[in-house]
Amino acid sequence: MTTLHTPPRTARDTAEQHLLTARSREAYRAGMAAATGLVADQLAAVDRPHTGARPADLTRAVAAVDLDTPLPGTAAALEELAQLWLRDAVWFHDPGYLAHLNCPVVLPALAADALASAVNSSLDTWDQSAGATLLEQRLVRWLADRAGLGAAADGVFTSGGTQSNLQALLLARDEACARLRRTRPGARLPELLGDLRVLVSDVGHFSVVTAARLLGLGEDAVVAVPTDHGRRMRVDALDAALADLREQGLEPMAVVGTAGTTDFGSIDPLPALADLCAEHGAWFHVDAAYGGGLLVSPTRRHLLAGVERADSVTVDPHKTFFQPVACSVLLVREAATLRHVTHHAEYLNPASAPEPNQVDKSLQTTRRFDAVKLWTTLRVLGADGIGAMVDRVVDLAAETWPLLDVHPRFDVVVRPELSTLVFRYVPEQRMADAEVDELNRAVRRSLAADGEVVLGGTTVDGRAFLKTTLLNPTTTGDQLVAVLGLVIRHAEAWLAAR
Ligand SMILES: Cc1ncc(COP(=O)(O)O)c(C=O)c1O
Repeated sequence: MTTLHTPPRTARDTAEQHLLTARSREAYRAGMAAATGLVADQLAAVDRPHTGARPADLTRAVAAVDLDTPLPGTAAALEELAQLWLRDAVWFHDPGYLAHLNCPVVLPALAADALASAVNSSLDTWDQSAGATLLEQRLVRWLADRAGLGAAADGVFTSGGTQSNLQALLLARDEACARLRRTRPGARLPELLGDLRVLVSDVGHFSVVTAARLLGLGEDAVVAVPTDHGRRMRVDALDAALADLREQGLEPMAVVGTAGTTDFGSIDPLPALADLCAEHGAWFHVDAAYGGGLLVSPTRRHLLAGVERADSVTVDPHKTFFQPVACSVLLVREAATLRHVTHHAEYLNPASAPEPNQVDKSLQTTRRFDAVKLWTTLRVLGADGIGAMVDRVVDLAAETWPLLDVHPRFDVVVRPELSTLVFRYVPEQRMADAEVDELNRAVRRSLAADGEVVLGGTTVDGRAFLKTTLLNPTTTGDQLVAVLGLVIRHAEAWLAAR
């Protein structure tokens, strides 16, 4: 009889000391307490979103760490992390953080995330997740109902809006190919790809282009549809683009309506897009990565009208449901369309398996239990509680916009539907556009230099603009006005130094 290999004593010691088991539970408690204590200490010390540390300032310290020589324990490793990372981290809860679509995170989600990491359930199969699968499925159902997608809807959690959009377009591609094969029976995928086109507004998210590349269509397959003054897709332009494609014998595989564009928060006219998709047999995907929070808004749910007609919807709880990264969901109107990503592996999810295996619906195999964060948040705050926070940031943008609009030193782009404000400082004296661009870029840089305010920046019609993305419901109007005052001061300093 063979004996099982017994690991050397040191490996067993290491494992018993460091793996989470019944025996190490007190060490687990201590490690988690040390971690939460460290974060709490940092929160007490933070008085700005960033210290202004630049890559060069941190590179030497990170490079100096000898990764082959371990520290005496978790406490020492955490202390090292405090120096290398936390001290100069970018803090999204600080009202001065206004750059991107990052939100401060809610406490129930953090507690649940700690559970997800400790238990380490993997959502691919029932035999790695058990009840976690049911919680995810129930939450997907709840979101699909909020979106109004109907009884046949389904979906899956993903790593982010980029992945949700990719999966949606994969489903759209394979549905379009199935349609094309009715007139071209037996045509292989590569023979059909060249005819497929995806339509998205000219301010839609770049992940649509990435998806087209990954799906073998190439980026030229993406048709950028012009937007109106509110940066919403122009319906007449979409109509014309679809007709044009038809004339050329090309297949409009999908129209992507954006419900909350990254720069402007603008929401495409979803009902009109749905009509045109129905007319042309195109898949209607709604990228509500940003605007998805409106699904729980007590006052603004109507802004998403038309989403219920989508074939698929991207919702990113790690943007507007105040969840830690990663937390995104792809919803589909017809569960059956998810078969386009199904692969039955004998070792994992054989076709004969009676249990629910979420890997059948996912591009990922091993997958974190990200749904548990949103689940726990809902159980504590309720949909209205989350929605009230969404409303607050949208209100904040709405209240601040008129101040920018009437201010002689600011040029503001669109009246916000969500929570972004895109504006630029315009000097009193006449200056070339390129110089005004440089002025605004310099203001953003100089504000970031001491980390007091981290603003976003973007280009609008070729000109440099500043951007605030408001996702912090604790930020006040006064704090925002103070930020605008700082922008003016930094702009004036730049002008004076010129
Ligand atoms: C409209 C929109 N779609 C998709 C994405 C991509 O989401 P993620 O960064 O989670 O991949 C973003 C990100 O900002 C976005 O704004």
